[in-house]
Parts: sequence; structure tokens; C-alpha cells
Amino acid sequence: MQLISQTAVEGTPGPAYGEAYKRLDNLNFNDARVFRNGQPFDAFARLREAAPVCWHPEPGDLPGFWTVTRHADVMRVNGDPAVFSSQRGGILMNTPRPEQGHVLLGRASQDTMINLDAPHHMQLRREHMPFFTVSYLKTLTARVQAEVTRLVDGMAAKGECDLVEEFSSRLPLFTLCEILGVPEPDRAKFLQWMHYLEMAQNLANDQAEMATTPSIELMQFVADFNSNIEEMFAYGQHMLHKRRNDPQPDLLSAIARAQVDGQLLSDEYLDGSWLLIVFAGNDTTRNTLSGAMKLLTEFPDQKAKLIAQPELLTNAADEFIRMVSPVIYMRRTALEDAMIADQKVAAGEKVVMYYGAANRDPAVFANPDTLDVARANAKQHIAFGYGPHVCLGKRVAQIQLEEAYRQLLTRFPDITWNGEIDIAPNNFVHAIRSLGVRFSNRH
Ligand code: HEM
Repeated sequence: MQLISQTAVEGTPGPAYGEAYKRLDNLNFNDARVFRNGQPFDAFARLREAAPVCWHPEPGDLPGFWTVTRHADVMRVNGDPAVFSSQRGGILMNTPRPEQGHVLLGRASQDTMINLDAPHHMQLRREHMPFFTVSYLKTLTARVQAEVTRLVDGMAAKGECDLVEEFSSRLPLFTLCEILGVPEPDRAKFLQWMHYLEMAQNLANDQAEMATTPSIELMQFVADFNSNIEEMFAYGQHMLHKRRNDPQPDLLSAIARAQVDGQLLSDEYLDGSWLLIVFAGNDTTRNTLSGAMKLLTEFPDQKAKLIAQPELLTNAADEFIRMVSPVIYMRRTALEDAMIADQKVAAGEKVVMYYGAANRDPAVFANPDTLDVARANAKQHIAFGYGPHVCLGKRVAQIQLEEAYRQLLTRFPDITWNGEIDIAPNNFVHAIRSLGVRFSNRH
């Protein structure tokens, strides 16, 4: 059976059953602007305590959803894919509608393995796995180390710079291109595509605004956005078809030749698989790299400890990921009536798991809002998810983060965030667009 394109399934108006916990008022997690100052950790704490499974209404005709904020409950939902589906409606809070945003982008964001359930999910995931094994990653580590040195060298003379521009946006892109097998001359384009991809969430709003108050700047932005996104997909299709005919030892070839139920992927799933890797591998690591610098500045004792005890770096990388939790949420849809904690959830209702909330659950992490590079159970964080969809690139992210901080702190021990930060209005990924840092060069 060929994989069919996913269709939008929005869930039900709900809630069908009585609410076990008193609903918190004024929740607006569907509003991307709320996330411009970082994740709403205060609201997460109130939810965990008073309404760990809480109905969140949506404006207009959109069906609401359940927010899940406790560590144990997020594990419960993630660990029961037979009941909580990724395929029925996908992993986004609101399935993209064809009339909103960019049509190709919307389509591709649905036709990916992250939106599939068993058995097709595992068939497709298995095809990716050779490029995420320990032996493959050993070679990658040496390449990452060399790239970090090159980037740090580039920063050295500046004394003050935007860490995102000079470092955090560049390292994950390099690593991804290495895994995918993107030729060197084609890599510069990627940075530009990423810049537009990050702004995709704004596009629907921009288009709505353009209908009422069109401006030259806005029209130009939308035109640039469309052409960049189209170029990115055209490049992906070109490379994947090329690899289908002439395979190389790289991830692009693995995707190009992947078979599900004995059939090669359709062009829709090639677009989706391309988008998933490009997006999942970039933004997440980039924002953890930047977020970690902010944390080290906010907790100078921890920074001093890490410099004095570099053997803590592996653990610190997990602690950074725990506290930053760059993926804000993942959605599931209940296939049958089920319990989450004391709440009965009805078949068809949407369930949204907040990773940043789970990762600061005091039931699991003592003093959860404090950075502790030696935290004994930092690894218990679930920022990479849990269950069959657990992040494929987990080790790739950890390698980059560990190496980045090893070299940054060795070379610039006095590096600090200078207080300047710009966070994108995005309620799916915590996206730091710029982060000013200053440092003196010791070598
Ligand atoms: C700090 C960095 C990262 C974080 C926090 C992160 C987080 C996540 C999470 C939460 C999921 C689970 C999705 C779900 O449950 O539906 C996921 C899946 C995935 N991640 Fe990551 N990720 C990171 C880095 C990466 C990197 C570097 C790559 C690739 C090079 C990558 C590739 C993927 C892929 C392909 C999936 C889909 C797996 C599947 O559906 O089976 N991620 N990631």
C-alpha cells in the first residue's frame, strides 16, 4: 500500500467529559506572541499544580485541546501510541489549512514520518537509522570538532557579536549537511532558507494583514518567503531524485531509496522527509546552543564549575537541553476514550504535551528552575520526547552541544550574554533569533 497524503483532522469541539481539574482562565498558548519573552514557565507551574490536564479553548471555530504538563503524564501519553496517535491530525496543535500559509510547506509538514503511526512509521524510521548509529557518529564527531574550532576562530577577533549569527545557526547546519551529504558549494543557500523557514508561523498572520493593510515591505517579504521555500523544496527534490539513481553513502540516498510496504516514497513524502530533517535538525540544536549561553550567564557559579570540571560537560549538555526544552510541544489525538491522570479524554480530542513544563516538574527535578551542571538525574529530561518517535538526532545534538561548550569556554572563559536577545513569536519551537555576547580573546 502506498503512503497516502495526510489529511487535516482537527479533533472535536470537546471536552466531551467533565473536567476533573478546575480550568485555569486566560490560557493563550495558541497565541505565538505569548512566547516572545520565552516559555511561560509560571503558567506551566500553575497548570502542573492545579490542573495537570487542562482544557484549553481555541478562538473561533477551532476545537480546543487538553494541555498536559506533568512529567509522568507526558510520559504516559508518549508511551501509549496505540491510543494517542501522531497520524490522526499530526503533531501540530492546529493542522495547517490549505488556505493558510504556504501550500507546499503545509502539505510537506504533514507528509512525514513524525506524523505516522505503526507500522509505517517504523518502516520509514528504520531507513534513517544507519546515519544515527554510534559508529557513524564517531566520524561525524571529528568533523564537528573541526567546524567548532573554525567558528570559534572566526569569532575571536570580534570581542562582541551575535552568537546566533556567528555560531549557533552555523554549527547545526554544517552538521546536517554532513549527515545528509549536501555538497559544499550548495551549503550557503541553507542559511537563507532556514531564516525564512523560521518565519513560517508568521506567514498566515502576514497574509491576513496584507488583505487589510497591504504594504510594499510586506508584499516583498511574502514574495521572498515564497520563492525561498520553493527553492528549498526544488533543491530537495533535485537531490533526492539524483541520489535515487546514483546512491551515495549518505542520508539523502537513504531517504531517496526508502521503501514503505515495498514501494518508494511519493514526491509528497520526499518533500516531507526533506523538510523534517532540515527543520528538526537545525532549529532545535541552534536554540539550545544559544539558550545554554544565556543560562551560563544567569548562573555564573555553574559556569565557573564547568570551567573547573570539564568532565561535567556531557551531563551539562543534558541539563542545558532540559532547561531550554527547545521543542515547546507535541500533539497527539486520542483514538479511543482514555484516562490521563484523573481526566477522562474522549476519542477524537487533541492532547498537547508541553515538554518545557514536564522538564521543570519538581516531582522529578529538585529546584527545577536552577541550572545544575552536576544534576544527578539531568538525563531524565524528555526534551527529546519518549516512545517510538523519540528524537532520532538526540546523540547528534548532544555531540554538538558538548563540543561547542568545551571549545567556547576554553577559548573565551569570560564569555557572557550582554543582555540583548530577540525571541521569535513561535509557540512550537523556542526560537532565539539573536543573542549578544561579549568576551576577550585569550589566544
Ligand atoms: C536539542 C536538540 C533536539 C531536540 C530537543 C529534539 C526534539 C525532538 C522531539 C521532542 C521529537 C519527538 C517528536 C514526537 O514525539 O512526535 C523529535 C523527533 C525527531 N527529531 Fe529531534 N530534536 C533535536 C535535535 C535533532 C537533530 C539534530 C536531528 C537530526 C539530525 C533531529 C531529528 C529528528 C527526527 C527525524 C525526528 C522524528 C522521529 C520520528 O518521528 O520517529 N532532531 N525531536
